[in-house]
Order: sequence, then C-alpha cells, then structure tokens
Amino acid sequence: MNMKWSIEDKLLYGCDYNPDQWLNRPDILAADIELMRKAHISVVSLGIFAWSSIEVAEGQFQFEWLDKIMDDLHEAGIPVFLATPSGARPTWMARKYPEVLRVNPSGNRNLFGLRHNHCYSSPVYREKVQIINTKLAERYSDHPAVILWHISNEYSGDCHCDLCQVNFRTWLQKRYRTLENLNDSWWNTFWSHTIFDWEEIHSPVPHGETSVHGLNIDWKRFTTHMTVDFMKEEVDALKRAGSTLPVTTNMMMAIEEAENDPGLDYWKFKDSQDYASWDSYPAWHLPGHKVFIPGEVSDEAVDDYRRASEVAFQHDIFRNLHKKPFLLMESTPSKVNWQGISKNKKPGMNILSSLQAVAHGANSVQYFQWRQGRGSFEKFHGAVVDQSGTSDTRIYREAVRLGEILEVLKPVAAKDYSPRAALIFNWENRWAFDDSMGPINNSRKAYIETLRKHYFCLWDFGLPMDVVSGEEELMDYDLVIAPMLYSLDSKTAENLKNYVHRGGTILTSYLSGYVNETDLCFEGGSPGPLQYLLGIQIEDLDSLHKYERIHLRMGEDYPVQDYYEVIHPLTAQVLASFTGKNVEGLPGLTVNNYGKGMAFHLAGRLETESLKALYQTILSDRGIHSLKLELLECSEGINLQIRSGDNEEYLFVMNFCDTPGFLRLSKDYTDCLDYTETVSSQWDVKAYGIRVLKPC
Ligand code: GAL
Repeated sequence: MNMKWSIEDKLLYGCDYNPDQWLNRPDILAADIELMRKAHISVVSLGIFAWSSIEVAEGQFQFEWLDKIMDDLHEAGIPVFLATPSGARPTWMARKYPEVLRVNPSGNRNLFGLRHNHCYSSPVYREKVQIINTKLAERYSDHPAVILWHISNEYSGDCHCDLCQVNFRTWLQKRYRTLENLNDSWWNTFWSHTIFDWEEIHSPVPHGETSVHGLNIDWKRFTTHMTVDFMKEEVDALKRAGSTLPVTTNMMMAIEEAENDPGLDYWKFKDSQDYASWDSYPAWHLPGHKVFIPGEVSDEAVDDYRRASEVAFQHDIFRNLHKKPFLLMESTPSKVNWQGISKNKKPGMNILSSLQAVAHGANSVQYFQWRQGRGSFEKFHGAVVDQSGTSDTRIYREAVRLGEILEVLKPVAAKDYSPRAALIFNWENRWAFDDSMGPINNSRKAYIETLRKHYFCLWDFGLPMDVVSGEEELMDYDLVIAPMLYSLDSKTAENLKNYVHRGGTILTSYLSGYVNETDLCFEGGSPGPLQYLLGIQIEDLDSLHKYERIHLRMGEDYPVQDYYEVIHPLTAQVLASFTGKNVEGLPGLTVNNYGKGMAFHLAGRLETESLKALYQTILSDRGIHSLKLELLECSEGINLQIRSGDNEEYLFVMNFCDTPGFLRLSKDYTDCLDYTETVSSQWDVKAYGIRVLKPC
C-alpha cells in the first residue's frame, strides 16, 4: 500500500480519546490538551464510537466539532489515528433498517444495544459504512493531524440471519463445488446427515446442528472470511475517496479463554492492513488461572511472571503478523473494569508492562482511555485522567514518567527484534481441537494452555520467539515447536517437512497429525502426513485422570499428565521411555533424522519444570543460544529481551516480581534510563522495575 507515513522509526505514546462525550464542556477539552502535553502524549485515537455525533440523522452530517478538535490537536503537535465508526451504530439506523442488527444463534434478531451488534452481510449496513467512511476520508485524509486510519474496533462475533445463511451456502459452494464433495468432507452419512440440497445447510446453532465438526469449522472460516471482506470494503471506501494513509484494525487478546475468543482467525487479516495493533488487558496481580471451561482453574498457579509470558506470547503473534513493529493500541494505565476483580496496577507495573511491549517490538504504547467518562459502562475503567480531573494522582504521575522514558527510548524504535525460535499457533487447529470429542472433554484438553507452557519455557530462557501460523517460511529459525497440531492441512505439513529437510529442528507432541482441514482422520492413522518426518506410527492415544501420573524417564523420572500416546518407532530413535503400570518401556520421546534436520516427538504431556529440562537439553545439544543461559547470574522473576541493529543493542531487563531482583552479566553495560551514567556488569532491578541496558 502507498504510505506517506510509517511507524517503523517512531515510538508513539497515546490513548483513545473521546471528546464526543464532552462536547458541551469546552473547558474540559482545553484542559485535555494541556494535560496531554504535560504527559508527552504523541498520538490519540479519535472517533472510534462517534457515529451518532457525526451523522445525527440519516445523511445529515455534523463535522464541525471534529474539525475543531482535530485542528486543536494539530496545533498542540499531537497526531491522530482517525477511526471509522462502524463498531457501533446510531439508533436511527437500527430503527429504520433492523437488518443491520445481528441475529443471535437462537434465531432472534437483537434489539438495538451494546456495540459490535451488526450483520456483516447486510447490504444496508455495508452501504452506510461506505458512506460515512467516504465522507471521513474526503474531509480528513489530507488533514495534517491524521497519520493513520483506525478501522472499526475489535471486529468479532457472528450473525445467523437469512442473509448470512445465503452467503454461507455460496461460500460453501465455492469451496466444495459439489454436494457429494461436501458430504464426503463432512462425513455426512453419519447420523443420516446427508445434505441433498444446498438450501438445507444452516449455520451451527444450539437448537439445530452442532455435531458435524466439518460444518462447525467451516462456519468459523466463513465468519473470518466475511469479516475480512467487510474490513476490505471499509478500507476501499477510504482509498476511493483519495486516502493514501496506512490502516490498522485493533485486535483483541488472541489466546484468551473461550468466552473472550474473538472467533476470528487473525492470521487471515494480514493483507487487509498495513500494521498490526492489539489491545492488551492481562489480569495482573491475580493469582490462579482460568482455562477453557469457565469456572475451572488450572493446576499451576499463575503469578505476574507467568502472566508476563502470556502477554509476551501475544506481542509475538502481533509482531509476526506483518513481521515488523506493531502498535499497542490499548492498555490500561491502572485497572480494567470488566474483569472479575479489577486491581490497580501496582506502582511500577504500568511502566514495566508498557515497556515490555516495546521490548517485543511495539512502536507505540497507547491507553484506553484518556479521560474517564461520567456515566455508563466504562466510567470506572482505568484512565490517565480520572473523575477528579486533576494531574495530582499516582496514575497520572506514572503516565508522565512513562512519557519521559519513551522520549529517551526513541532510538529503540528503529531496532529489530530477532527471533531464534518459532512456536506454531494455528487458529483453525484450536477450533478443531476444542470441538473434538474424547478422550478428554474438559479443561484439561488445554491446547492454548499447552502452547502457553511451551512458550513460557523458552521465554523464561530469554530465547527470542515468533508465534507463527505454520504456513510461513521457517528457515530462519533454529528451532520450531508445534505442540498438539491435531488438525493439519497439506500446505502446513509440506512446510514443516521442507523446513526439517533443509536442516531445521522441530519438536512435535502427542495429538499431532490426527485430522485434515475438514476434520477427517487420516487414512493410515496418525501422525498422517508427518509420518515420514517423525519416523513413527501412533497406535493409540490414552488419557489420565487428574490424579493419575505415569513418568518419562529422561535421566530422572518426569511426571506425565493428561495424555500419552502408544507409538511405534519406524525410522525414529527412542530417546526416553515411559515408566509406570501398563506403559513400562513404551517410547515417550523420539528423534528422527530427516534430510539435513531433526524431528523430535514428545508422546506425553509434561509439567512445566520437566518441559524446561527437555528444552534445556535440546537447546544445548543443537547449540541454540538463549540470553539467560548465557548470563552469569540472575534472580527469579526477571525476563530478558533484546532489540538490536546497526551495531547497537538494547537489553530490556524486566522484573515481574514484587520483590527486588538482580543480574550479573559477563560485560559492562549502562542504563539508558538512569542519568547517573553508571557503567557496570551487575545490576539491581526494583520490584516491578525495568532497566534498559546498552553495552559499553
Ligand atoms: C477494549 C475496547 C475499548 C474499551 C476497552 C476497555 O476491548 O476496544 O473500546 O472498551 O476494551 O477495556
């Protein structure tokens, strides 16, 4: 795309700004700009939910207030990410054209309310969005304050209306061409489900079909397709009206519990935007951890250090989406009001968590929200300026301090994050596996939780990672890990084989290569297309009760929980075997030489500490360097990341503990944030503190 502006070498500091909530208070709007200046704010996202303030009646536009805000911001030197307002629509539209509202799975059309309550198929909604986007682009594309389009807000969800059913059938016809092909791909003779006419197909709904796994996954694919298509139309309208500005859409937390799942395959959004951006709301300072089934809690307690690895995981997804710096579009400076318990970030945590994003490749730190509103749902959500309206608060003071720090760190924005390992996170696999039945059907299925565990081990070692879909070129990575790749399409399978054949190292686990992309098991069994790569045949998958353990003997005995496979080595060599009743001597860890590379397969689920031991061995055997393993000494709870380039590097030393920490390095560094210009190889780090070190 044609761009007159780029974030590649900038480090922006900003917030969602909602002046439309304060139009009758010019004094507050003037105070906002002063307070923003004092806090070093260098960008605001504007107009995200402002449709009803712009188009007050059908075709009646009121831009004067926006003109003034934009001019005032420009005069103050604050650029704007201007939003298209499609995330929420005015009442007049829903009243006159009810089709713009969503139909829920029970078949009822929603009433006007909430946000994100629109049908992506509705021609009326698409037309209304086109009109307002065109008006915005015509008026503001050349406004000197605007530097990027913020498209809609957190696209998510699906609609089950008649228009969507028609579009779904058309999409299926393109994909399968014939009903015979569709019936075969969905295994429809089962329970007499053969489809005789395309008209008989309906989206999966609780009072209708939910048992055909091929249908379920295709509905999710279709929903992603419709949303991407909708977004592309939004962007096209801006371009047709003459805009050459870059675009992004703010995405949600991608690896959250099912109830917060955006229901979209974010990897598919790559071609519709220029930059990735995301909204980060981790539950800091909360012990315990919710996993897939609401109400169930994982066995392993989650402290802030562990939580930090989950956030890092998501940063690594969004950086990898475009393989370049991303925007941290939203975060809270203090609390998140919609979580079960909203705790304020403890002193230091806002600066630490914001700079963690920068350490992972973000070129912006932005908040939701600048100022708390007086009413409605988000009045108690964290904001830089609270109801008191003063700057005399801890939160505001910390925001100012972060603004100063980001000014100092500007040169970091031009530096790269250089991953050495890749973790495969495949959205479709997640959906397919969650949907599968047996042998475990509760939260211990845990695909996401398992990825988090594997990620945590390597993140803890300070090994820079990418999180990838599996379709990308992998050759640059020293190590690729692909846990529980249950559903495997032929393209990904070929890609993995190619990577190893040319010299790569891969680790797969139990539950890899079980079904194809329409959820049909592979003829010849598992691991299907990975059989020659792994050099094994999987005879069976068994499950363990919550209290049951077998062990994997790797020098010492490591406990195995939840799942283990019965495997037969074909060409693979057995590195470790299971021990326990009925499993004694079964292969538990194998390695296969394939082309110039090596493929490891782990046949049982290990706990985190055991996984770490396994990775430590693989890293040292394969000569893969990680930051922490090369350090002289480091206290627990510290994580290290590097951004580097042009013979310059920035080492981020982050302490996610509420107690002070330290580290000893093998050479001397200075701290960019410390004005005393100390030169040392030994550093202390405050509780929830950060140092950004440069080698001397
Ligand atoms: C985001 C959303 C914002 C705001 C925020 C509160 O998901 O994009 O508009 O609602 O959550 O945490």
